[in-house]
Amino acid sequence: MSVKDVVLKILEENKGEMVSGQAIAAEAGASRAAVWKAITQLRKEGHLIDASTNRGYCLSSSSDLLSQEGIHSFCRLLEAENIHCYKSVDSTNNMAKRLATESSCSLSLIVSETQTAGRGRMGRSFYSPDSSGIYMSLLIRPDFDSSKSILVTTAASVAVCRAIESLSGIQCQIKWVNDIYLEGRKIGGILTEGVSNFETGQVEHLVIGIGINYSTPASSFPEDIQSIAGSLFEGNVLQQQNSMELPSRNQLIGTICSQLLQLLKNLNPLDFMEEYKSRSLLLGHPVSFVTPSPGGPVTQFGKAIDINPQGGLVVLLEDGTESHINSGEVTLRKL
Ligand code: BTN
Repeated sequence: MSVKDVVLKILEENKGEMVSGQAIAAEAGASRAAVWKAITQLRKEGHLIDASTNRGYCLSSSSDLLSQEGIHSFCRLLEAENIHCYKSVDSTNNMAKRLATESSCSLSLIVSETQTAGRGRMGRSFYSPDSSGIYMSLLIRPDFDSSKSILVTTAASVAVCRAIESLSGIQCQIKWVNDIYLEGRKIGGILTEGVSNFETGQVEHLVIGIGINYSTPASSFPEDIQSIAGSLFEGNVLQQQNSMELPSRNQLIGTICSQLLQLLKNLNPLDFMEEYKSRSLLLGHPVSFVTPSPGGPVTQFGKAIDINPQGGLVVLLEDGTESHINSGEVTLRKL
């Protein structure tokens, strides 16, 4: 680790508090001059660091640049060297897929300040403006077979909601299968992609991509998503309520990873399915969905009544039969 990385690690671990130059120099095994040089470099990169001659250095609580050290201090289940932070990439999922073929690392995280070609489900794009969102992809090499892949998205949705609630008290809802909602607006989504071995049915690797509109101003969303998109902290809900401080993006990313890695250990529906159902936007409501048929796509209508143990949505159709949906999109009908 370079002196700069160690200095940032110490400051991230003590965010909002002064740490003496002497203590930092001792832990980094470097001179006070080398620590000062590292501080200058970190400031140039955009980290907000206060310095006081007698008291030392302090990473300001409002400093919110993504960093390996910042994320690692909230998720010890990931090795720091397997957290990759970028300023800009096409898509963190694409980066993770490239990494999967280039390295044999069993667990990695890719994050970026912005994405130039962020992707969502169903071939859609994911709006990824600079510095106001969370764009993260976790690369795993699980030992379960591909039939369980949908459960990964289910578990990831719960992990995101748990992390948000534990850090801010905000309760989000989930629209089957992968959309995160707050007060009727979509604030995030999950795109799980994978490669499996056709002979064994075993998953070779999975990339779990998570996007959250963290503080994106409502007015900046592109026109086609203006009426549905929202942000987690748009309008600073927490400060309005005069309660907790906003969690940083590093903190939220680290906490999501911790929650998700716990759930992925066993991928046992008992660990998350009840919570998934209780946060569901669709259960108990009229829905529609499109199914392919030889004569062309057919729209079906019914009521969402359950999530099956495999993560599929159970819909009671108007003719009284049940349909179990494992892919595609379901629309909430407003009657
Ligand atoms: C959706 O809304 O359909 C899913 C959106 C998933 C977006 C995330 S952002 C990080 C990762 N990289 C991508 O290109 N997509 C996912």
